[in-house]
Amino acid sequence: MNSSATVRFMLDDRIIELNDCDPTRSVLQYLREDLHRCGTKEGCAEGDCGACTVVIGEVVENELQLRSINACLLLLPMLHGKLLITVESLQGGKPELHPVQRAMVECHGSQCGFCTPGFVMSLFVLYKNQSKPDRNQINDNLSGNLCRCTGYRPIIEAAKLMYQLPAGQGPAWLYRNPQVRAEQVLIDQLQQIKPKQSLAIEYDGKRFFAPTTSEELAQLKHQFPEATLMAGNTDVGLWINKQLRQLPVIIYLGLLKDLYDIDDRGSNIRIGAMVSLSDAFALLSDYFPAFCDLIRQFASLPIRNAGTLGGNVANGSPIGDSMPALLALDARVQLHGADGRRELPLEDFYLGYQQQDLAAGEWVEALVIPKSAKDIQLAGYKVSKRFDQDISAVCASFALQLDNKLHIKRIRIAYGGMAAIPRRSKQAEQVMLGKPWNEQTLALACQAIADDFTPLSDLRASSAYRIRVAQNLLRRFYLQTTVEMQGQPLKLLDLMEVSA
Ligand SMILES: Cc1cc2nc3c(=O)[nH]c(=O)nc-3n(C[C@H](O)[C@H](O)[C@H](O)COP(=O)(O)OP(=O)(O)OC[C@H]3O[C@@H](n4cnc5c(N)ncnc54)[C@H](O)[C@@H]3O)c2cc1C
Ligand code: FES
Ligand code: FES
Repeated sequence: MNSSATVRFMLDDRIIELNDCDPTRSVLQYLREDLHRCGTKEGCAEGDCGACTVVIGEVVENELQLRSINACLLLLPMLHGKLLITVESLQGGKPELHPVQRAMVECHGSQCGFCTPGFVMSLFVLYKNQSKPDRNQINDNLSGNLCRCTGYRPIIEAAKLMYQLPAGQGPAWLYRNPQVRAEQVLIDQLQQIKPKQSLAIEYDGKRFFAPTTSEELAQLKHQFPEATLMAGNTDVGLWINKQLRQLPVIIYLGLLKDLYDIDDRGSNIRIGAMVSLSDAFALLSDYFPAFCDLIRQFASLPIRNAGTLGGNVANGSPIGDSMPALLALDARVQLHGADGRRELPLEDFYLGYQQQDLAAGEWVEALVIPKSAKDIQLAGYKVSKRFDQDISAVCASFALQLDNKLHIKRIRIAYGGMAAIPRRSKQAEQVMLGKPWNEQTLALACQAIADDFTPLSDLRASSAYRIRVAQNLLRRFYLQTTVEMQGQPLKLLDLMEVSA
């Protein structure tokens, strides 16, 4: 394998090279302890509080794409080939405040200030990426930032005011409507450090590989069968930070270009395993608008920017939120390994608690989602204690197709939080098939759901509560579709917060 041990990235307008760095050191630790750029704070070290928010830049189709990311879950080698922007970057070496910072001051958006740099970075991305965000867009951009003293109203005011304040004296790319040439400088520099070969780092008994081809990946999987595959690190990062697990060999998938492929030209939508949750959900919501709501309640924006659809599916958590919707859509999973490729229905991929049909040498390559018939009705609902950044008690997704007599031609009823794996209620589907879409059929289905599942009781919900919620969500779907079919558009928030 033709590889290098040097992690190369840009910080502001400088190129930084790290040779044989500790591959499990987080960007947060590096910024604070090595560079003494202490603006970026540590609150939780698990992606929940946003005090560590930084901005990562990448060239995508010759444009500079800026995204907020949690530095506590970003490992140093994940910066390879990218641009890192921290709160210290925003003044561009000048004494004046950036318009985002000035807006925070003028709106009194900060008290103890611990959360403030994280908010500033989330606002900076908003300021750069959107010109007139509405309240929902502002809320979504701030969904990964917690403030314990100020309250959110002044921060939301700052999000509006920042657009009205004049640009400062720093580099033009820090401000709105930069001259094209200003951003082009960054794009050209990023093109120069674009990774051309694999990474192979050895540090203090730890090994970190980032292959660039599937052949290299297959070879590494063969050589290190116990290696941990890593995608966006939003699950794996918690094993490192919170469980203090030693991961002697990590194989990072981020340099495998093929895993970022998206193809929606034919009758299927194929989404590569490394496509971020943000990009995957944006695409899927074009085809299935119910996904718009799933996006809002799935983690926070920085987690969706880092986490991948492949990682969510491969991790196979019983409370993973994309799987119920993917199961309802009859998604298939494509696996790749040294012996070639195979494809199987997603529902067959889950064998038991944290057990997937994945051979030692295989990895998830893509998800394939059929573009369903136009008359299909799809909804997804997540029930959790909080709206943002919370784990599902129950997550449900339903897909319905009726014939011209309003009898059920096809139905999918899929849940997370109800079993050891994300799973369909086949019994409920069976009793509904061919029957009219009415109260009697619904009652039969609700009984079947209770027969089909024996959920756990845990700190999030009791078993009985989960059953009741699963039944009531199906009822809600019934009411929603029925009212809509009677020609009275009912604008329910498909995935609305329901207090557990
Ligand atoms: C604050 C926070 C909030 C969260 N909120 C939610 C939420 O609301 N809903 C939800 O469902 N999840 C949530 N998560 C969990 C996590 O973000 C998702 O599961 C995410 O999709 C994982 O993707 P990743 O790319 O980060 O995976 P990683 O952490 O890199 O990997 C996860 C697992 O999948 C394996 N893996 C990754 N890619 C592949 C592949 N291509 N082939 C084979 N194996 C692979 C890894 O080995 C590992 O076992 C949250 C996490 C955090 C930290
Ligand atoms: S320190 Fe809390 S999200 Fe990173
Ligand atoms: S200002 Fe104190 S936590 Fe936000």
